[in-house]
Amino acid sequence: MEFMLDTANLEEIKHYQRIAPISGVTSNPSIVKKEGKIDFFAHMNHIRQIIGPDKSLHIQVVATDYKGMLQDAKKILDKVDRDVFIKVPVNEVGLKVIQTLKKEGVNVTATAIYTKFQAYLAIAAGADYIAPYFNRMENVNVDPREAINQMAKEIKRTNSSTKILAASFKNAGQVNAALENGAQAATMSPDIIKHALNLPAIEQAVNDFTHDWEEVFGENQPIS
Ligand code: E4P
Repeated sequence: MEFMLDTANLEEIKHYQRIAPISGVTSNPSIVKKEGKIDFFAHMNHIRQIIGPDKSLHIQVVATDYKGMLQDAKKILDKVDRDVFIKVPVNEVGLKVIQTLKKEGVNVTATAIYTKFQAYLAIAAGADYIAPYFNRMENVNVDPREAINQMAKEIKRTNSSTKILAASFKNAGQVNAALENGAQAATMSPDIIKHALNLPAIEQAVNDFTHDWEEVFGENQPIS
């Protein structure tokens, strides 16, 4: 099971990669927009520097035509590094790009997946990760649980090495559902981790333990 951070915010990445067992960082142009008019490649290199060489970094192309997407991919690989996973949306142009990049041995994350059919095509095209958009699927009345379950079955059936990197989450319950239905990885806003680990019930339990310990052994007394 892999947990990734779906953010381009340097402070969030620094903070949450110390707290949680994070295996990578993902972003898209809308996520990058939140950081303002940054020096894009300097920023992506900074993220790589924070997470180190062993974690995966997924960067999305911006162009919408075949030649442009390939140029974006080449720029990302040249200006960041060859290990980056190039995120490509699974539409007519993107699917063609994915096949070209895979022939060249590039790491690919097939993204903007709303349907099983897109996923099946991306698996057949050899994408390393496929990113079904959990919350957005629900918004268009597609059941993401059933879809992810079938994607996982297809990967197994075809003995493919593609992994499901579920994305687009609004809460931890959706993340659980994606993982329980066969996603090997999930990328989420750090806010989801923050909220999930700061529930009032957890805080209450920890306070009760402290209180009970202090009643018997006194304040700030370590175990001895
Ligand atoms: C992954 O990187 C996706 O682009 C992202 O999770 C989409 O999330 P959203 O639906 O919250 O925009």
